Amino acid sequence: MSINETWTDIDAYISDHLLPSDKTMEKVLRANSEAGLPAIDVSPPQAKMLHLLIKIKGSKRVLELGTLGGYSSIWMARALPPEGQLVTLEAEERHAEVAASNIRMADLDYKINIHVGTALDTLPKLASEDPFDFIFIDADKKNNCEYIQWAVELSESGACLIIDNVVRGGEVLKEDSLNEDVVGIRKMFDLLHDHPRIDSTAIQTVGAKGHDGFLMAVIK
Ligand code: SAH
Ligand code: DHB
Ligand code: MG
Repeated sequence: MSINETWTDIDAYISDHLLPSDKTMEKVLRANSEAGLPAIDVSPPQAKMLHLLIKIKGSKRVLELGTLGGYSSIWMARALPPEGQLVTLEAEERHAEVAASNIRMADLDYKINIHVGTALDTLPKLASEDPFDFIFIDADKKNNCEYIQWAVELSESGACLIIDNVVRGGEVLKEDSLNEDVVGIRKMFDLLHDHPRIDSTAIQTVGAKGHDGFLMAVIK
């Protein structure tokens, strides 16, 4: 994936102007790096976009697939009203431990519930909970179709769905890709083509994390 210097500088310019200096989020990124987690969190401007979308929607129950160190979880949970809840799913015990520590440091443990285990194992267990009104899918891309089917199961009409990494520096165009993530992303686009229950679009993004994209959708 190409990372262009101008894109990175412009992300810094955007953050300097629109994202006030944030010691907690800086500590989260430092803790993730010290723990050896890969730096594949959403970028700060993208995290702020998720935060604003949750506010715009007036969301109360967020589901996240792929916690990593909790960077996006914390940004999203901060957009919720006092009674709001965020459930986040993470397969790697080590990632979940770092996230739990970051979430405690951010004083958000009363709002965020981490489930350790593969998302496909955990999702059926969430069917007994209240429906989610905002779902952020950012785990292993190969299972995106299953995740979208679960998102429909676990939400109601009007719920908002955001899926990260749907462009992958242009890899999404490779019909014969052997990369299982790319294959999963392409299957997801096929699934969403004329989907009876999901209305969607996708927006390409460039910035400090390269060229990628967000898919956004609403449950009809
Ligand atoms: N949302 C995070 C970044 C997530 S990176 C942020 O922006 O801060 C993707 C995460 O998904 C990794 O931590 C990885 O361990 C996790 N993951 C991968 N496969 C998974 C699976 N099958 N179930 C749950 N989590 C998974
Ligand atoms: C990867 C995963 C992500 O969620 C992301 O935003 C960037 C990269 C990865 O698995 O490489
Ligand atoms: Mg991602």
